[in-house]
Amino acid sequence: MLDGAGARRTAAAVERLVAGYRGGGPAPALRDRDDVAAYAAYRMPATFRAVRAALGALAGAAPGWEPDGHLDVGGGTGAAVWAAAAVWPDRARPTVVLDHAEPALALGRELAAGAAAPAVRGAEWRRHPLGAAPADPGPGRAGLVTVSYVLGELSGDVRRVVVAEAARGAGGGVVVVEPGTPEGYRRVLEARRQLVDAGFTVLAPCPHSAACPMEGTADWCHFAARVQRSALHRRVKGGELGHEDEKFAYVAAVRSAAASPGPGPAPARVVRHPQLRKGQVLLELCTADEGLARTTVSKRQGPRYRAARDVRWGDAWPPAPGD
Ligand SMILES: C[S@@+](CC[C@H](N)C(=O)[O-])C[C@H]1O[C@@H](n2cnc3c(N)ncnc32)[C@H](O)[C@@H]1O
Repeated sequence: MLDGAGARRTAAAVERLVAGYRGGGPAPALRDRDDVAAYAAYRMPATFRAVRAALGALAGAAPGWEPDGHLDVGGGTGAAVWAAAAVWPDRARPTVVLDHAEPALALGRELAAGAAAPAVRGAEWRRHPLGAAPADPGPGRAGLVTVSYVLGELSGDVRRVVVAEAARGAGGGVVVVEPGTPEGYRRVLEARRQLVDAGFTVLAPCPHSAACPMEGTADWCHFAARVQRSALHRRVKGGELGHEDEKFAYVAAVRSAAASPGPGPAPARVVRHPQLRKGQVLLELCTADEGLARTTVSKRQGPRYRAARDVRWGDAWPPAPGD
C-alpha cells in the first residue's frame, strides 16, 4: 500500500507530520491518504511496539486473563488492535476502533483485511469524534479499552471525559500509552489517578496503585521499545540505523484484580537501563514497599545474578518464574 503511495510523496508527508509533531502546537490532522500513509510508515511501527510492550506487561501480571472485547479509542490505523492480537492471538473478539479521521480508519480497515488474527480481521472501524457525542458503550464484561498516543491530542476536559468513559466501558482493563516525555508521563499519571479513583487496580508498570514516587521530582517514568526499521521505514524517515528506540509511558489497570487471575503487579520494576559492572549488576527499581530504590546484585548471588544480567529496562524484578 505504501509503495502505491510513492516513496517520495510519503517522505514529503512524513516531513509535514514530523514538523507538526515537533512544532509544539496542536497535533497534525490526518487529512488524506498521503498523511495516513506517512503515519503508517513513520509512526505506526513504533506505536505498535509500545502498545505491545504495555499489553505484554498487563498479560504478564494477569496471565489468566484475556479480553473478550476491545475498544480502541482514537485508534487511527489500528496499531493497538494489532498489538492486542500479538499478545492474545487466538481468539476472535468484538473489536471496535474509534477515530475522527476517516482516511486513518480507511487505511486501518484495508491493512486489517489481510491479517491472520481473527480479532484484527473482524474489527469494526467507526468514525467518532471523542468527547463530543455519547461514547460507545464499551467492550463489556471482560473487555479492554486502549487509549494509545491520543491524550496528548486532546484538551484537558476532553482527556478527562475520554478516561472516564474508558473506565465506565471497560469491564476488564484500561491501557493508556503516551510518548515517553515528561508531558506524556504527566498525562499518564493523571489518567492513572482517574482510574484508581474509579476503583481500578494498577497492574503495570507500577508495583502498587498508591502515589507515584517520581511525581514532583525532575524524573519521569518511561520505558523504551526497540523498533526494527524496514527498508521503506528507513527511506521515509531518512535514517541510516536499522532500528530505533521508541520511548513511551503507560499505565495498565484492571477493574477487578480478582477477575484477572495471576501474580498481580510485580514486586518491583526496573526503571533505568541496568548497569553492568565487573561481577555486579546495578538495578534502579520502583518497588512496592520502598518507592524508588537501588540494588546491587553480585556474582555471589548465583541465579539472582544471572537473572539480573538478563533483565532489561521495563522488566519486572525479580522475573516471574518461567520468564
Ligand atoms: C498519534 S495518533 C494515534 C493513533 C493510534 N492510536 C496509534 O497508537 O498509532 C492520534 C489519533 O487520535 C485521533 N484523534 C485526535 N483527536 C481526536 C478526536 N477529538 N476525536 C477522535 N479522534 C481523534 C487522530 O485522528 C489520530 O488517529
